[in-house]
Amino acid sequence: MDTAQYEIKGDVAVINLNNPPINGLGLSLRRGIIAGVERAQEDAAVRAIVLIGTDRAFSGGADIKEFGTPKSSQEPNLLTVIRIVESSSKPVIAAISGACMGGGLELALGCHFRIARPDAQIALPEVKLGILPGAGGTQRLPRVVGLDTALNMIVSGNPVAAAKLKDTALFDDMVEGNLAEAALAFARKVIDENRPLKRVRDMRINEPGGEAYLAFARNTVAATTKHFPAPLKCVEAVTAAFAKPFDEGMKIEREAFVWLMNTPESRALRHAFIGERAAAKIPDVPSDTPTRKIERVAVIGAGTMGGGIAMNFLNAGIPVVLLEMKQEALDRGIATIRKNYENSVKKGKLSSEKLEQRMALLTSTLSYDEIGSADLVIEAVFEDMGVKEQVFTRLDQVMKPGAILASNTSTLDMNRIAGFTKRPQDVVGLHFFSPANVMRLLEIVRAEQTGKDVLATVMQLAKTIKKVGVVSGVCDGFIGNRMLKFYRNQANALLDEGASPQQIDRALEKWGMAMGPFRMGDLAGLDIGWAVRKRQYAENPGMKRSVIADRLCELGRFGQKTGKGWYRYEAGKRDALPDAEVDEIIKAARAEAGVTPRKISDEEIVERCMFALVNEGARILEEGIAARASDIDMVYLTGYGFPAHRGGPMLYAETVGLPNVVEKMRRFAAMPGADKAFWTPASSLVCMANSGESFS
Ligand code: NAI
Repeated sequence: MDTAQYEIKGDVAVINLNNPPINGLGLSLRRGIIAGVERAQEDAAVRAIVLIGTDRAFSGGADIKEFGTPKSSQEPNLLTVIRIVESSSKPVIAAISGACMGGGLELALGCHFRIARPDAQIALPEVKLGILPGAGGTQRLPRVVGLDTALNMIVSGNPVAAAKLKDTALFDDMVEGNLAEAALAFARKVIDENRPLKRVRDMRINEPGGEAYLAFARNTVAATTKHFPAPLKCVEAVTAAFAKPFDEGMKIEREAFVWLMNTPESRALRHAFIGERAAAKIPDVPSDTPTRKIERVAVIGAGTMGGGIAMNFLNAGIPVVLLEMKQEALDRGIATIRKNYENSVKKGKLSSEKLEQRMALLTSTLSYDEIGSADLVIEAVFEDMGVKEQVFTRLDQVMKPGAILASNTSTLDMNRIAGFTKRPQDVVGLHFFSPANVMRLLEIVRAEQTGKDVLATVMQLAKTIKKVGVVSGVCDGFIGNRMLKFYRNQANALLDEGASPQQIDRALEKWGMAMGPFRMGDLAGLDIGWAVRKRQYAENPGMKRSVIADRLCELGRFGQKTGKGWYRYEAGKRDALPDAEVDEIIKAARAEAGVTPRKISDEEIVERCMFALVNEGARILEEGIAARASDIDMVYLTGYGFPAHRGGPMLYAETVGLPNVVEKMRRFAAMPGADKAFWTPASSLVCMANSGESFS
């Protein structure tokens, strides 16, 4: 099928953009537009040209399928298309509905007139991929909407409804009714009135005070976007639109575009963009796998996780029934949900009306007999196999046939849990992250017998509740927590050897982690890990003990909730303050172990913690626990505060170079007192380092 269909309506040529789903400007559509414009030029009977998309999109910009391939820049590239459109001697009118974004907006800006539906979404979102609009967007948009509006749109990348821009020169008319008819009527008017062509490139930005405004913008942007170079480049390009002739501005935009494309930050953002879409595809579950309807959800346990999990569904308009053992627990859980919503209302993020609508979707019960009709039940009770067994045995008795039975367990064996039921094909792990109503990650734990339709259903559901679903096989800790153990191992080892909690946290936070491991431990609570360790020591008496961490817990230092942990906290405050008592404990433990503390560099801290993550990530890939390296990166980006500008641990390893990573691991293994087994590089890493291959 043609991606650009040409029709003649009287003396107007209409070019219908038709490249579903969002009229991505791939090579074929680019060729089609040029062919249409040229045909209209040659046809003496044609006096105006209309470019129109679908209800869903005029054009959403670049074609994702061409991302990173030579096709994306192959001639005719978008610059050429826009030049031909703008140079047309016959008027070209863009008729805009739905998404008009990125290259789509740049194309519209190359037209001589633009009409739009008020709810059309207008954006230049390139900055979100670490680049800037590279087909004239930074030069043309400020010429029609002014410096302030253009800069806000280009630096934020956020969409704006066309109605909000109706008083600017971006639009010649707003259309409520049939867009195609309105476009023809508008074209007639242009012809009849013999309107002069408005070429945006010939306009000038006439804003007294523009220079001072741009200087102010530069300072503000520089202060708020420290890890990313793109926003500042956007300001520079817009400054050129203001201060230089059009062609010079275009050159400056192009240079910045090419430069940004090659930055590690842009690579990281594009990797995450593609990675998020890739994670939604499960290799052996075809995209047309039938899914089950999820119209009613039950949540078992209204504790820390249960309440947050329930909120996700309420937010999406899906009714939830919450089950607890005791009325008090139920009341407490519901009060917490209401309080969370009330906080959003206070912050102006939610209306009181919406709050009540959401709460009205929530019911509660103490009886399993009342949840059987739910399409999905998610268990979030205590992390104890005995309790899980009780719950799943009961669920198996009461849930209707075809219901999906999910567990939010963070460590337990999903195959065993599925085995408590007579319908293991319906059982799956849905591992939410705390706070469950906020964190974007949802690890979908695939047990041996989990049905493909169940996987397809929960993957789709993840999207409905605005989560990034990533499939993990069954293993201790699944993808995220299994790797985290290795990261924490190194944080503790560095502590033993001479670094302080403050230095380790600071080094990793400076590198970009949202929170260092010790501050994070204090926030989550140190008692949970202590309980796990005590169980492990009992089962495995020979294992190495975490002496310092254990001693803190023995003193009741469980983190923020007890006012002290690795740090101390003043009442009602969350600032982590260094504590002399902790320093003493660390010193004593080192002395007992006969360790002479040494000075450790920030670089060593970051590399040891990161490469520990990478090594375990590689093993997870070897075992098939994760389907792709980018899935692991998505887990870390959306669930563990990994810095977006680094693109996840596996991409980071590639940025450093896998041979360098392996070589560093060998060096760490050779250090005095090092745990040699820990630093044995995963065999796949060694293979890739030797052959020059990469994860992708
Ligand atoms: P929690 O202790 O805050 O809440 C558990 C709730 O379950 C309690 O309110 C309890 O009354 C209720 N409960 C216990 N047995 C029950 C039963 N038989 N029937 C009905 N209700 C019952 O625990 P939390 O932190 O919410 O953890 C729940 C699950 O989520 C655990 O499996 C945990 O590993 C997992 N998880 C926890 C995370 C966290 O950060 N807290 C993160 C991800 C998963």
